[in-house]
Amino acid sequence: MPWRKPWIDPSEPPWPSDPSALRSALERRAYEVWISEIMLQQTRVAVVIDYWNRWMARWPTIHHLARATPDDVLSAWRGLGYYSRATRIHDAATLVVADPAMRGLLPREVAELEKKVPGVGRYTAGAIAAIVFGLPAPMVDGNVLRVLSRQLGLFANVKTDKSAVDLLWAAADALVRAVATDGQPPHDSSPMTTDEETPVPNDRPGRWGQALMELGSTVCTPKPNCAQCPITSTCRAYAEGQALASKTKAKSNSGQSLDIEDVICTLCQPFEAASVEDVTGDAEVVVETKGGSKKTKSAKQVTLSVFFEHKHTLTTTGKMEAIVDHCRKFPVKGVKKAVREQETLVCAIRRDDGSYLISRRPDKGLLAGLWEFPSRILVDGDEEASSKAARSKLAISHVTEMLGRKQRDGLTGGQGVFTDLKGLNYEGELGSVPWLFSHLKLTMHVHVFVLDGGWSDAGALSTPPAMQRWASRDEVDCESMGTGMRRCWALVQDWEREISEATDGQ
Ligand code: ADE
Repeated sequence: MPWRKPWIDPSEPPWPSDPSALRSALERRAYEVWISEIMLQQTRVAVVIDYWNRWMARWPTIHHLARATPDDVLSAWRGLGYYSRATRIHDAATLVVADPAMRGLLPREVAELEKKVPGVGRYTAGAIAAIVFGLPAPMVDGNVLRVLSRQLGLFANVKTDKSAVDLLWAAADALVRAVATDGQPPHDSSPMTTDEETPVPNDRPGRWGQALMELGSTVCTPKPNCAQCPITSTCRAYAEGQALASKTKAKSNSGQSLDIEDVICTLCQPFEAASVEDVTGDAEVVVETKGGSKKTKSAKQVTLSVFFEHKHTLTTTGKMEAIVDHCRKFPVKGVKKAVREQETLVCAIRRDDGSYLISRRPDKGLLAGLWEFPSRILVDGDEEASSKAARSKLAISHVTEMLGRKQRDGLTGGQGVFTDLKGLNYEGELGSVPWLFSHLKLTMHVHVFVLDGGWSDAGALSTPPAMQRWASRDEVDCESMGTGMRRCWALVQDWEREISEATDGQ
């Protein structure tokens, strides 16, 4: 991971004798870690590496980024998804550079980072404070929530149960504080700590936090590889699985033997009888919320040993599989929200000079600020659009209306007559592009129109060019578009190739 670099120890040469070089080094490091952590939210490490390298080659410091145009930033983000992250980083960079107190250097402390840098929440703030500034700040992402739920045997839904999440953050906080001072002499006999609460900054908090996240993304995954896990000896879920698989007593986190059936916890959800598939797989779910206990199917509260599934032949491998299956139940999976479905008509309109009409999406919401071919969402009332012929009709009326309005407004400043759109030719529906967002399943039906020389927009578009314009093929290629829209563009380009081959062949 190219953003992982040795920790900058301000107490080590050459830094004590060169405060301004130290400031520049920290400024750069904080910027690098900040960008990496934002990119890593919702995106896999393997994908982020290339994006991060390209980003840093283009904008090596926060000052370079602050001078970039919003479109260039969006374009560099293309393919990473969740585009508002890019806009927020850019806005924040501009603010951090312009702020006389920061002048480009991100704050050290979690509270200040959260307060002064828009878009930085407690996770990113913790990562910057720990990795860059060596402070004992917890950084808890989804992977860490899973690791700690299993370590503590906390059977709760971390998506809906705030008290469980608070507890896991508190655990992460206690752990990183312990790790920060681990190996240091006690503070009263040593100049190593500045006071009782604050250990001298060092590299351990950052290394620890990243190790936990990496353990969660590589070993303690939703289906964990317990056989390779370096921390099974402190894992409560593992101990339960092991004890139940061998019918012995489990060990508590403090190492004491205890009867696992005796443990009562007010934070854990009750164990419910359900099929193994329900509790372990992604499929369906048992319980929705802790208090609400809304159930997808009738579930019966059971003891831990009934909750533990004995579907395996308990040979050594069978035992390990049984333990893994037990660990997989942590944290509790919630009821998956049904993914909303939406269909749109994507209308690629080519002018006789070969350019296409493109529009910019609003600054807020899905794919904010990205460019697209003019699109129309199909709503419930458009049920007739389930056939290709019906979609064609709707696409034609959408484009006729849109260009008609443009002609009218362009010609007479909004007072003109609606034209019959002479010169507009409909070429057909090229295909449908499915695209899955985390919360939305989108199907884009791609329609093509060609405007011949008989059509004229009188050189004017009613929408400002910043929001809608004619773009050459090369410009469309370079414009910041979502990946799904780019697939639509690929269909249009295939169509262009086909018609030009057909014409050449005549
Ligand atoms: N996931 C998010 N940030 C990470 C980091 N810095 N190291 C490992 N995994 C991560």
